[in-house]
Amino acid sequence: MLKQSLLYLSTASWARTIATRWGVARRVARRFVAGEMLDEAIAAAKTLQDSDILATLDYLGESVEKKEDTYQVVEMYTDLLDRINAEGLNSSVSLKLTHLGYDISEDVAVLNLRQILQRAKEHGIPVTIDMESSDYTEATIRIYRTMRDEYDFDNVGTVIQSYLRRTEMDMVALSHEGSHIRLCKGAYMEPPSVAFPEKADVDKNYVHVMQEYFEASEDAYLCLATHDENMIQAALDYINTNNIPKDRYEFQMLYGVRGQRQQELANDGHTMRVYVPFGDAWYPYFMRRLAERPANLWFFTRSFFS
Ligand code: FDA
Repeated sequence: MLKQSLLYLSTASWARTIATRWGVARRVARRFVAGEMLDEAIAAAKTLQDSDILATLDYLGESVEKKEDTYQVVEMYTDLLDRINAEGLNSSVSLKLTHLGYDISEDVAVLNLRQILQRAKEHGIPVTIDMESSDYTEATIRIYRTMRDEYDFDNVGTVIQSYLRRTEMDMVALSHEGSHIRLCKGAYMEPPSVAFPEKADVDKNYVHVMQEYFEASEDAYLCLATHDENMIQAALDYINTNNIPKDRYEFQMLYGVRGQRQQELANDGHTMRVYVPFGDAWYPYFMRRLAERPANLWFFTRSFFS
């Protein structure tokens, strides 16, 4: 119930207006967000890299409604790519199609995406297209394939969510295409007709499609995005038993979550990448983090009273 309520609030504009004006909410959100400015994101990526942890930088924002507003998003991403290159960082970037204007029209989002991918390709920087709610799954996978196959962007990847019932079918197809996929559980409110409502089924599917993906092709690259120790252990067992080389996978976690475990995986010689969000549009991202772990509400309560 609490999880569903928090996910509902993540999309409610009235709640966003209240929360973003509230200093306590902004302070608590900082646990999961590197800062509002590009410099803060770059600093966070540098600190991580000093500890052998890579970053994927995400300029926060989604559901942009005006075409003019998407130009600023493209500008920020191109500045970000230039900074990553200038600073010699081994970081990638992550972005959302609705931040680039998908809700205005697919053409707007694709045009913006191509500009970002082109600049990223010039600098040799990988780009992952995040997966949003199931309203966008079909289009996101289609656009990912178009960028990869028709526009020859070899630096693009996308995300698949193990809570979706369609995921096994998608993963089987993508595994034979030499894809670069981030596998996560999924963070949006979905009906049971579309997504498994039970955590046990989401977890079972995560492990199942991970194994199938590794088995299907030696060209496919998998980013194991999870904080769940059971998922991490299942992946490590499979990787060790089947001698999966280190250049075929990486672990990924979110900024501010399980920092010690991130370091352990990096120290053990696995590629470890942390998703580092920045910008002032932190509200929906932050609410999804609270929904994943309502215990985080405790930070809120403590900060409020302190
Ligand atoms: P699960 O939610 O089952 O949690 C397992 C355990 O992990 C918890 O018991 C707790 O110990 C710890 N944990 C999890 N979340 C926590 C939190 N917020 N704070 C503190 N502890 C926490 N989703 C999506 O729909 N589209 C996307 O593009 C992405 N992209 C993405 C990138 C990366 C790098 C990561 C790590 C995750 C995403 N996600 C995502 C989010 C993902 O779908 C999922 O919601 C979260 O990762 C939580 O799922 P877990 O696998 O961590 O397990």
